[in-house]
Amino acid sequence: MNTQIAEYARECAEKGMRGDYSACQADYTVLQDYASYTPQEQAVWQQLAERQMILAGRFAHSAYLDGLSAIRIGSKIPDFEHVNHELAKLTGWRIVPVPGLIPAKPFFEHLAARRFPVTNWLRTAEEIDYIVEPDMFHDFFGHVPILSQPKFADFMQMYGERALDAIDLGGDEMITRLYWYTAEYGLIREAGQPLKAFGAGLMSSGGELPFAMSKDARTSPMDIETILRTGYEIDKFQRVYFVMPSFDALLSAFETIDLAELIARYKNDAPLDPATV
Ligand SMILES: [Fe+2]
Repeated sequence: MNTQIAEYARECAEKGMRGDYSACQADYTVLQDYASYTPQEQAVWQQLAERQMILAGRFAHSAYLDGLSAIRIGSKIPDFEHVNHELAKLTGWRIVPVPGLIPAKPFFEHLAARRFPVTNWLRTAEEIDYIVEPDMFHDFFGHVPILSQPKFADFMQMYGERALDAIDLGGDEMITRLYWYTAEYGLIREAGQPLKAFGAGLMSSGGELPFAMSKDARTSPMDIETILRTGYEIDKFQRVYFVMPSFDALLSAFETIDLAELIARYKNDAPLDPATV
């Protein structure tokens, strides 16, 4: 284990994080070790997947649903190697097992290389409804299906590349907000179509997905500059959800913004209150 990883592993242990970072390679990846999953863990996966499949059928954008069937997510914990076989054919993405959250820089380096880090452990039966740290169910069920869709797959790679630039410019927080309000909590309403969800924080949540699609949730049209400036809280339902008109629009808006200029202009400002944007 190199010293950087050893230091990160020590910090994670101090915070009580669950992953075993001692086996990390230099890029923070580990083995999935499929044979180690217990029948109890398989049962937890099945319970979560069955619940979310029903919600996804009602609320998810067709791109997410197409992804679910394309990578054949079922009632068993997915074998990452099998999934990679399908995903590589569809968009050239791969998933790589990690012990949990990893530092921003290696995370973005993975995205820029079309690799999505997925936690290799699963929550317990007591945590079916809520877990603090992202686990395999969130990372996989939430994020991976949509990576099989070419436009979104391109957006995520570009996001990784531009996030690395943003870190160098001191825009870490700003660029993370874009991830939060798109990849995690993004909604989409295509012309003439009903509102749908695609963000992973929604697709993996039994509570927040119906809330986000209800009349009680506030929505705002997508505007990348506003998103980069809007704060968020990790332990509450979102106080605003941004609505994309299409994945094409998201990709081209992100392609054309002057990220360096926006970071220089706003990086020292207090974030906008999501309750009032
Ligand atoms: Fe996530």
